[in-house]
Amino acid sequence: MAAELSGKVVIVTGGARGLGAATAEAVVAGGGRVLITDVLEKEGADTAASLGDEARFLRHDVTSEADWRAAFDHAVAAFGRVDGLVNNAGVATGELLENESVDHFRQVIEVNLVGVFIGLRTAIPVLRELGGGSIVNISSAAGLTGLPLTAGYGASKWGVRGLTKIGAVELAEAGIRVNSVHPGMTYTPMTAGLGIQPGEGGYPGTPMGRVGVPEEIASAVAFLLSDAAAYMTGAELAVDGGWTAGPTVRALTAR
Ligand SMILES: NC(=O)c1ccc[n+]([C@@H]2O[C@H](COP(=O)([O-])OP(=O)(O)OC[C@H]3O[C@@H](n4cnc5c(N)ncnc54)[C@H](O)[C@@H]3O)[C@@H](O)[C@H]2O)c1
Repeated sequence: MAAELSGKVVIVTGGARGLGAATAEAVVAGGGRVLITDVLEKEGADTAASLGDEARFLRHDVTSEADWRAAFDHAVAAFGRVDGLVNNAGVATGELLENESVDHFRQVIEVNLVGVFIGLRTAIPVLRELGGGSIVNISSAAGLTGLPLTAGYGASKWGVRGLTKIGAVELAEAGIRVNSVHPGMTYTPMTAGLGIQPGEGGYPGTPMGRVGVPEEIASAVAFLLSDAAAYMTGAELAVDGGWTAGPTVRALTAR
């Protein structure tokens, strides 16, 4: 069942595809309106068009302060208000620490962490003026534990988790809630090339034995955007099939 988001206007970054597109769909299914932003212009416009009049698209690079201001201006001009922001845009990395280049590490931090910081900085005065709101930052299971091959990515996602706590304590008085979501391995364009398969048995490394699908992450994000999560701020919600709960020991649990 879709989270109740009637009347709410949400900006979803990186919403052209994957988890962001599923989140935009969940917002509209819940009765809200959504501004999808992304650097992928054709995919973003197509995704917005598939959701009808309640969705718009704007090209927006999350590393640009000017683009961030334009995104909030666009949402207010199109829909009259902004109630939520989902900082979802991100890039992945896959090198051992010793092989990671300094330039690539900086690039990943720039999109995944500095991008979220600029988003928070831009959102705060707008949401404060409008009387509050909900910000959901997409971190990762890699922001809860040490995942190999994720030098810049893991560091950025731990940073997003930390920024979330800072936002939560600074903004609670303004009625702005800030929470983080930590997806485990989920089947999207980002991960499709990793050799994982959707469905049972597709990911034996996780207790549930399968990868997630974007809708399973989107429903958790939509819940945090909704008034059903009114007393939640600074929370870190793992949506990972149990992956960060602890190791799977089939020899002990198999029946
Ligand atoms: N798929 C997973 O298993 C998984 C797990 C944990 C966390 N996440 C996180 O979820 C988020 C979405 O990932 P996804 O799996 O849907 O990946 P994806 O690659 O399908 O989507 C990411 C989107 O972000 C956009 N983007 C990249 N750089 C951008 C920039 N500078 N400005 C604006 N948009 C930009 C891309 O164009 C793309 O549309 C990411 O933050 C990712 O790190 C994904």
